[in-house]
Amino acid sequence: MPIDLSVEIAGLRLTNPVLASSGTFGYGLEFAHLVDLNSLGGIVVKGLSLEPMEGAPAPRVCETPSGMLNAIGLQNVGVRAFVAEKLPKLSVYRTAVVANVFGTTVEEYCEVLRILEDAEGVAAYELNISCPNVKRGGLQFGSEPGMAAEVVGAAKRAISRRRLWVKLSPLVSDIGAMAWAVAEAGAEALTIANTYPAMCLEVSTRTSRIASPSGGLSGPAIRPITVRLVHEASKAVKIPILGLGGIEKPDDALQYFLAGASAVQVGTAHFADPRASERLVKGLVRRCEELNINKISDIRCGFRP
Ligand SMILES: Cc1cc2nc3c(=O)[nH]c(=O)nc-3n(C[C@H](O)[C@H](O)[C@H](O)COP(=O)(O)O)c2cc1C
Repeated sequence: MPIDLSVEIAGLRLTNPVLASSGTFGYGLEFAHLVDLNSLGGIVVKGLSLEPMEGAPAPRVCETPSGMLNAIGLQNVGVRAFVAEKLPKLSVYRTAVVANVFGTTVEEYCEVLRILEDAEGVAAYELNISCPNVKRGGLQFGSEPGMAAEVVGAAKRAISRRRLWVKLSPLVSDIGAMAWAVAEAGAEALTIANTYPAMCLEVSTRTSRIASPSGGLSGPAIRPITVRLVHEASKAVKIPILGLGGIEKPDDALQYFLAGASAVQVGTAHFADPRASERLVKGLVRRCEELNINKISDIRCGFRP
């Protein structure tokens, strides 16, 4: 019997549970000459803002022990150029295209979503709430449940065509409370989690190793911390969770499933191997055969405390 890797995320059927994560796989098209995009469960595109953004000065990334620090500054072409130039090219692929959305005000989030609502070829929205709210003194939307619920509620009211996934920040005191608040406000799936705020200094020059003083930590170093966040969130809410953080190998992904995830995303691993997601799909088939798992969705929450 072939292994059934298909999963369902809030009504959206994916052929397999592996998606490329936002910001680590461009708009997907850049990888089309290297990767069979149809082999992926989905592609979450680079975060989209209302206007194009140039991003932060270089260097934007540096290697850290078992990880990577980045401060890209959310560089992107802007939602209108994405709809006009990228989406039509993506439409030839069968893989699900998920639009990652951000803004600095609630109104901006909603405006980006309204523009996407008029476009064809988007499978779902992923709201990145790890962004500063400029009207509230630069606090992150995703750092406080009340503020997170406000932006999620407004986003939900702005859309009708597609499901709303919400990507949480890992930097919260109670991930269960945050997951619950966001689900109550209308989130239909959660992506857990974004990068961890971190610093990396060059002692000889007394400067940051990237141009920005601090950035976001990702890669294998964060995996055990995020697996726990997924586990805690899965106890608090019933909506599906997409887990990500440091996934490279099949067992990394399977840990997330056991902890409560319904699908996974691959991020930093693409920097070492652009085919990391494609390889993970193949590796999962082999590993499931070894472990006698016929249907991947069956092992969700299979962790035995
Ligand atoms: C270079 C880089 C850019 C990223 N850009 C975004 C982004 O635009 N929107 C977003 O929601 N997450 C962004 N992320 C976060 C990743 O999607 C992912 O949540 C995080 O890196 C943890 O997964 P990983 O350890 O597999 O990389 C970015 C991460 C990296 C490394």
